Amino acid sequence: MTIKKIFAIASAKGGVGKSSITAGIAIEAAKKYKVGILDADIYGPNQHLLFEIDNKKPQIIKRNEKKLFKPVEAKGVLLNSMGLILDAEKAALWRGPMLSGAIKQLIHSTDWGDLDILFVDMPPGTGDAYLTIASEIKPDYSILVTTPNKLAIHDLLKSIELFNKLDIEILGYIVNNISNTSFEGNFNLIDKFNLKKIATIDFNNDIYNFNPNKTHNLFIDISSSIESLV
Ligand SMILES: Nc1ncnc2c1ncn2[C@@H]1O[C@H](COP(=O)(O)OP(=O)(O)OP(=O)(O)O)[C@@H](O)[C@H]1O
Ligand SMILES: [Mg+2]
Repeated sequence: MTIKKIFAIASAKGGVGKSSITAGIAIEAAKKYKVGILDADIYGPNQHLLFEIDNKKPQIIKRNEKKLFKPVEAKGVLLNSMGLILDAEKAALWRGPMLSGAIKQLIHSTDWGDLDILFVDMPPGTGDAYLTIASEIKPDYSILVTTPNKLAIHDLLKSIELFNKLDIEILGYIVNNISNTSFEGNFNLIDKFNLKKIATIDFNNDIYNFNPNKTHNLFIDISSSIESLV
């Protein structure tokens, strides 16, 4: 099992579009590469819903006495998520150590096969999950997502500082204009980090009501911009 490159899609702020963007980029990338998504949002997994596979379960196989999950395939993307493995309501009650344990299990018990790209759909925040993922899965790169909103940009600062501390290269940030505002956002706050703006995504009905069969053209561009890294 080899995974060429791992990308974490992240934001400290919740609800800025990480999961939707991860799904959109992965669907495009899977047209050319072998692609997987690890939904690391243990409390609020979403990928199984975006890909409309919430009625499926990963097959369990045994290799060298170890039980492994076979990821579920949808739109050419291999997926594993707590949402496929157990009831989200159960996971919602977990505490810190159980959370880290669950992420470790997802990471180490999934038989991804050989992948070109694994996307990790990160939960919001900067807590335990980030430390566990940094140490157990060691993403090669992170892509940050923010809205142009004041608080989101302040949270973007937190994410930048965290990934710098974790020594994970930040490829840049995506501005997701979910609320369709003409407000540009005060991105001067992050000037000192010299980060690339990868793309701006406007409000889009197909993203709002995510349809895995009809994704946004911008995802093609974002996906092509990371191809040279694989
Ligand atoms: N560009 C967009 N246009 C329209 N709706 C969008 C856009 N981006 C995201 N959304 C909507 O915004 C909401 C939040 O998106 P999403 O769940 O992908 O964010 P998230 O950052 O993964 O959230 P969480 O932090 O809870 O994991 C969803 O309802 C999604 O459909
Ligand atoms: Mg999400």
